[in-house]
Amino acid sequence: MIAVAIDGPAGAGKSTVARRAAKILGFVYVDTGALYRAIGLYMINHGIAPVNREAVCAALSNVSVSLDFQDGEQKVFLCGSDVTPEIRAEEVSNAASAVSAIPEVRQFLFSMQRTLAAERNVVMDGRDIGTVVLPNAQVKIFLTASPEERAQRRYRELLQKGKKAEYSEVLKDMIQRDYHDSHREVAPLVPAKDSVQIDTSGNTLEQSINRVVNVIRSGLKI
Ligand code: DC
Repeated sequence: MIAVAIDGPAGAGKSTVARRAAKILGFVYVDTGALYRAIGLYMINHGIAPVNREAVCAALSNVSVSLDFQDGEQKVFLCGSDVTPEIRAEEVSNAASAVSAIPEVRQFLFSMQRTLAAERNVVMDGRDIGTVVLPNAQVKIFLTASPEERAQRRYRELLQKGKKAEYSEVLKDMIQRDYHDSHREVAPLVPAKDSVQIDTSGNTLEQSINRVVNVIRSGLKI
């Protein structure tokens, strides 16, 4: 089986680029953030504070998360129910971020992610895929863009959704989150030593996809 790991900070366009690259290559796209989001959603639905490590760990044995791939699209199931659209809510993003800092949650999802990659050719996107989950991935990409560019993209997204936003606030949040993600004790966001770093600042989406597909093709010699 072939595994392509794509890691990088929030707002770098990872999921769109990874999904499109997987489609071009005929691989299955696996969005691992969705797994953390599903666990975050479970905690919200059960009135458990996602920062409460003890309570989250106690609840984990009742959680079942699975992914299904239909026409190349990933569906996320939480205890048997399809939660694919629900996990995108802002509240769930925050809960996912909190539970993802709990080592037991990472451990819980670890073998599941490995199994997914053992059964099919994947482009897997996340934060620690190339470093922890699939250290033997044939191609590892660390996709990033400047904080200003990522904040600009996020700012435009918020305005498009009709939300009020201040660019300077979005940028401040982005810089803070980057610091937190790359300095946290558990699975900090760092590029794998053998990853190819791609900075998409100033690139259009199509240009970013092309660059990623070219790196994958040359890495796999296909
Ligand atoms: O990529 P995303 O926004 O859907 O990720 C949701 C949260 O899960 C985010 O706070 C980062 C975390 N995450 C992680 O810690 N490790 C992964 N492999 C994927 C996501």
